[in-house]
Amino acid sequence: MSYENLLLEQPAPGVLCLTVNRPKALNALNAATLAELTQAINGVAADPAARVLLITGAGDKAFVAGADIAAMREMTEAQARTFSQTGMAVMHALEALPLPVIALVNGYALGGGCELAMACDWIIASERAVFGQPEVNLGIPPGFGGTQRLLRRVGTARALELVTTGRQVKADEALRIGLATQVVAPEALMACGLSVAGTIAAKGPLAVRDAKRAVQQGQSLSLAEGCALETEVFAAAFGTADQREGMAAFLAKRTPQFHGR
Ligand code: COA
Repeated sequence: MSYENLLLEQPAPGVLCLTVNRPKALNALNAATLAELTQAINGVAADPAARVLLITGAGDKAFVAGADIAAMREMTEAQARTFSQTGMAVMHALEALPLPVIALVNGYALGGGCELAMACDWIIASERAVFGQPEVNLGIPPGFGGTQRLLRRVGTARALELVTTGRQVKADEALRIGLATQVVAPEALMACGLSVAGTIAAKGPLAVRDAKRAVQQGQSLSLAEGCALETEVFAAAFGTADQREGMAAFLAKRTPQFHGR
């Protein structure tokens, strides 16, 4: 599948890398790019060999500099509602992928770019990364989930400060407030992403999928409900060949060969 505004590559077995590729507009998200993202995410969801998805931006300046301001400029309320719903659907689809999704933020992740990064399971940032929800500078609030995901990532007060001032957050602060999990040199970003992805791709894929699901769903469950969910996914794992293989390999002091069944 080839795209106009995206690159979808497989840099290693089980590892897919999706690059937003509109460097002239700093990878800004227009309707065409959102449509391609939907297609690409659906393709990843349907790929039984996919184990980890990395998402980054083309060029060394931006991850994604936001929703496309030129495309939004003349929108009516009805068009803006549809645009927001489309962006929201992309972010939901990404979050719902049954495999870990890691954002490799190589530069500006502003507005829709920050929202895209936050829809990933976690963020590895380059030292050059800059995050922010600057929509208030344009006379609008965030529209692709920024108020809600920032709130859940960094807490109410920090989210409010960031969405009302539009202040930019550099990589070191992003790490400190929990927006990024790791900061690396720009030239080491892809290697770092591939290393983490390779580690995950070697694990039992059903276990990885269910661990992600339990953590994600746990965010909106009580502790008791979340623990009950964990018991269910833990028990279900004992009906899989991967559990037998993983434990047999440990006891035989050999590397396990997982097959996702
Ligand atoms: N939508 C559309 N085009 C965008 C864009 C966006 N969100 N962000 C950048 N671009 C375009 C610029 O218009 C410019 O196009 P041109 O070369 O045709 O003039 C090109 O990308 C380069 O951007 P430029 O502003 O010249 O780069 P810079 O290094 O001076 O500044 C930013 C970089 C990211 C700080 C600045 O581009 C910016 O503030 N972008 C908008 C961020 C934003 O508000 N995002 C939220 C949108 S809801």
